[in-house]
Amino acid sequence: MWPHPKPHEPDERRVTTPGAPHPVLPDYYRRAEARQAFVTALFDSTATQYDRLCRLMSLGSGQRYRGWVLRRTGLRPGMKLLDVATGTGLVARAATSVVRNSHAVIGIDPSRGMLRVARTTLSSPLAQGCVEQLPFRADVFDVLTMGYALRHAADLEIAFCECLRVMKPGGWLLILEISRPAAVWLRTVIRVYFTRLLPWLMRVGSGHGDSGVLTRYYWETIENCVPPETILEALRRSGFVDVRLNTFGGLLAEYVAVKPRR
Ligand SMILES: C[S@@+](CC[C@H](N)C(=O)[O-])C[C@H]1O[C@@H](n2cnc3c(N)ncnc32)[C@H](O)[C@@H]1O
Repeated sequence: MWPHPKPHEPDERRVTTPGAPHPVLPDYYRRAEARQAFVTALFDSTATQYDRLCRLMSLGSGQRYRGWVLRRTGLRPGMKLLDVATGTGLVARAATSVVRNSHAVIGIDPSRGMLRVARTTLSSPLAQGCVEQLPFRADVFDVLTMGYALRHAADLEIAFCECLRVMKPGGWLLILEISRPAAVWLRTVIRVYFTRLLPWLMRVGSGHGDSGVLTRYYWETIENCVPPETILEALRRSGFVDVRLNTFGGLLAEYVAVKPRR
């Protein structure tokens, strides 16, 4: 059903949109305008496999890690959190167990398939939509999270300005990402894991071929993503302050940024 990587002209890779987190990836879609439809359809078709895939990707530690980061960055009971790109609700579930009120956590995602799976485990309000246009009033949320989805935004500054708008002054944004490892050996290991081992494990475990396309696409967006400095600079240009980046093991990245108090 999905395209498999094909040989391409090297200069096709240079087709890039200013502000986009990565260039057009012609193995998967041909024009920047086609990217969102491709991504949404890919997540729709792999939604039922996503949680298993995440457990394999993180060697079983992903959910504990999400909860740990949320507590460490200051999430407390009584806070209101918007989880952008909630997917099957993994960050939202971890947040709910910290704030201990499922109605204080709202999830939003463009993929109906992912939201349908989220609904099976989450009683939080869920909405369909993209980070570029959030259907909420200004100054509503204490915390805004975006887990492993920054690479799917059309434009970093448009996405960040929209996040800033819906956050309360003094509120903070937490972006979880996987960054391209600087060490060549680690990059090679992760590439082989994402593009060969994971697709094989998913096929053997579930017979589901599309999740192999998801893991290969996932890796390509990591490998082609703009560097962390560009993301930090886009956060500052969008109006955030106290912008910082924590990294773990050369792979896990946590961007934290605060909306200025008036
Ligand atoms: C890798 S999943 C991450 C799900 C979840 N946050 C987690 O921690 O596992 C990426 C999600 O981003 C969503 N997404 C894609 N494009 C988006 C956009 N423009 N705005 C918001 N979410 C988007 C996808 O539908 C998908 O559910």
